[in-house]
Amino acid sequence: MQKNERSDVVRTVMEQLTLLEKAALLSGGSVWESRGVDRLGIPQLFLADGPHGLRKQLGSSDHLGIAASEPATCFPTASAIANSWDPALAEEVGAGLGAEARAQGVHVLLGPGLNIKRSPLGGRNFEYYSEDPLLAGRMAAAAVRGIQSAGVAATPKHFAVNSQELIRMVSDSVVDERTLREIYLRGFEIVVREAAPWALMSGYNRINGIYANEHPLLLRQILREEWGFDGAVVTDWGGGNDPVAAIRAGSTLEMPSPGFDSARRIVAAVETGELDEADVDARVTELLELIERTTIDPQPVDLIAQHELARRAASQSIVLLRNEGDLLPLGDGHRVAIIGDFATTPRFQGAGSSQVEPTRLVSTLNAIEATTLTLTGSARGFRRDGVEDATLVAEAVEVARGAETVLLYLGLPELAESEGIDRQHLQLPQNQITLLSALAAATDRIVVVLSAGAALEMPWIGHSAAVLHGYLSGQGAAEAMLDVITGAVNPSGRLAETFPVRLADHPTAGLFPSVGPTAEYREGLYVGYRYFTSVNAPVAFPFGFGLSFTEFAYRALELAEGAAIVTIENVGSIAGSETVQLYVGRHTGPGAHRPKRQLRGFAKVTLAPGETGTVQIPLGDEAFRIWDAQENRWHVEAGVYPVEVGANVEDIRLIAQIEVDGGMPRVDVPGLTRYANAAVLGVPDEAFAALLGRPIPRSEWSDGPLQLNDPLSRMERSRSPLARFAFRMLDRRRHKAETAGEPDLNVLFLINMPFRAIAKMTNGAVSMAMAEAIVEVANGRHVRGLGRLVGATVANLITNRSTRSQLADVSASDRRESRVL
Ligand code: BGC
Repeated sequence: MQKNERSDVVRTVMEQLTLLEKAALLSGGSVWESRGVDRLGIPQLFLADGPHGLRKQLGSSDHLGIAASEPATCFPTASAIANSWDPALAEEVGAGLGAEARAQGVHVLLGPGLNIKRSPLGGRNFEYYSEDPLLAGRMAAAAVRGIQSAGVAATPKHFAVNSQELIRMVSDSVVDERTLREIYLRGFEIVVREAAPWALMSGYNRINGIYANEHPLLLRQILREEWGFDGAVVTDWGGGNDPVAAIRAGSTLEMPSPGFDSARRIVAAVETGELDEADVDARVTELLELIERTTIDPQPVDLIAQHELARRAASQSIVLLRNEGDLLPLGDGHRVAIIGDFATTPRFQGAGSSQVEPTRLVSTLNAIEATTLTLTGSARGFRRDGVEDATLVAEAVEVARGAETVLLYLGLPELAESEGIDRQHLQLPQNQITLLSALAAATDRIVVVLSAGAALEMPWIGHSAAVLHGYLSGQGAAEAMLDVITGAVNPSGRLAETFPVRLADHPTAGLFPSVGPTAEYREGLYVGYRYFTSVNAPVAFPFGFGLSFTEFAYRALELAEGAAIVTIENVGSIAGSETVQLYVGRHTGPGAHRPKRQLRGFAKVTLAPGETGTVQIPLGDEAFRIWDAQENRWHVEAGVYPVEVGANVEDIRLIAQIEVDGGMPRVDVPGLTRYANAAVLGVPDEAFAALLGRPIPRSEWSDGPLQLNDPLSRMERSRSPLARFAFRMLDRRRHKAETAGEPDLNVLFLINMPFRAIAKMTNGAVSMAMAEAIVEVANGRHVRGLGRLVGATVANLITNRSTRSQLADVSASDRRESRVL
């Protein structure tokens, strides 16, 4: 719905709201709901995760997936569907998600997530699309269009530069302006400009010292003024800090439930002149318009059709990484053994706020019955918890001997990929590699099928004849994988991230995750393939890589006005889809440093055997521009640029030159030679400071007393034995969960959360003054702190009662029954 169609209603409602009511509307009333105003017919909004399936919690809510949720279709995670390089498919899935949200009475869906995969260690990489902003932005924009087509608001997240899970609610991302614009904001820019989301979630983190949720440059200047975002900015859960700064900067709704603390602070700030009431009005208008835009009449959904969509989406996202001697596909009646714990207990999604209760889940062992393959036997093969088990290995080898081909289901265990915790390495558990080696001694026909949401090191790959990476592909994953194995589907997935040979080769190795208060983005623009291609470093699998059962020949590349036209031919014997990738290189003249090759467009095309087709890939100014940090604007350097098309970033098939009109070259400021050479492993302080254009901020925790915005993990170093004890208790719970093989999301959340969030998540039971008193106790000032805590608790009870009665008084004097918005 266009905003101006109904803004009269909003205007009328606005005129009748008191300042306190307006302020109260700007924070949540429960874990998943905003506040309403009954007397004016303003309903509460229901917000729910998540990015690849609806997670509407039942009963008591905890926001991190501990409490159960209503069953919903689990679609492929973003990391999986990104491999389809197919925005139309992402839009269809988005529409499926939107339909279920609407059916369950959810107005605002908290996704998609499109943060850049800065490091393959990112704990939430499974929830994100890519290391490349164009791919991430286009897939996310499509998802947003789909979700919103159902009348449900999408909420792209987490804006912005939110790359690590460790200390995620406090960490300060220190990044230069050019990298910020060209890499970390670019995907969001595409989403906002292409898909006009009705909502957007700010990140927990700080960017260059300022919380994302109160960042005037990001929220007001860039998001709203430059890109024209006209929706509501929602905080991440517990991510609010100073509500006054947030409102001034352009953030609309603080979630989940800071009680009336934030509302009172807003009212007081308006009364003292610290905050302009016009800012409050602007934010409330955004919220009311969000209510207007979302549809609330639930429509039934065909869950069988939704499952089929999930399965089809998964099948388009599988990446064939290796296929020696064309082992795959396997023909009718082919005799297979199925080995591996993941074949019985599928891992099809990650842990955390995005976890869905699937409507249906078929394991590989069940799904095989519906295929043309003949199952000769199955074995568990290994323990999921990583413990070596020689008996399981011996059984598996025995089973393998009875088959023509082994389908070996390996993957990362649940603990390896979760919200709240980054990965420590890129390896498969050793006991799975032991099993693979043992099987390889018995047969050379092993197909490894991987379930993992991210990149892996694969030193073991020589033991397998074929490797299929399914990522975490939702409830249809097992069936989709068998569709590819049997050739019912010709694989067309292409990696949306680089697979390094070793983690140590990666530009963020040693920098990620940062354990201090700042995370320094020293590699600058050289994220993922932008680094590897620039320095010609070998990788295990390049960005954009993926095999097919057919082959494509790139016949011609023609540059027309504003577009590249590529002709390709399917020269194999079966139908298949190719993703034509277009990269722009560095121009020939002098100028600012740039990666050797950057993705600037792509198009997927399906061709019958022998068929030739053309794709048209738009090529506008944006493909050539750089951010000029001195002039604070985009700039195109005039010059002759190579335009390269190919099957992946390392497999360029055709090159053309284009002469681009533009301005003068921009010369790098002194000190950036390393960046000109892409030598970003171990960037020294001087070079990073030159890139930032300012001194590097302090990167150590202060030795002083704990502050309201320090994470609870800092209690470990507190002077107070009580605080150290509290930390040990948390740590023990974390450890216990890790030993049991399942992450404890709530404990991880607490450990990374700052003290202030206690007041933001407890729906008024704990005020900010009480959180401050808790910090005092944690600093060892027990008596004073406890005294303050008692005083603040009493004050909180009294003020909450008074706020409630002020709101009730307005209500009593004017009550309407029905919803007007
Ligand atoms: C996550 C968000 C999620 C929210 C609500 C947060 O911890 O970072 O992505 O939408 O919780 O569950």
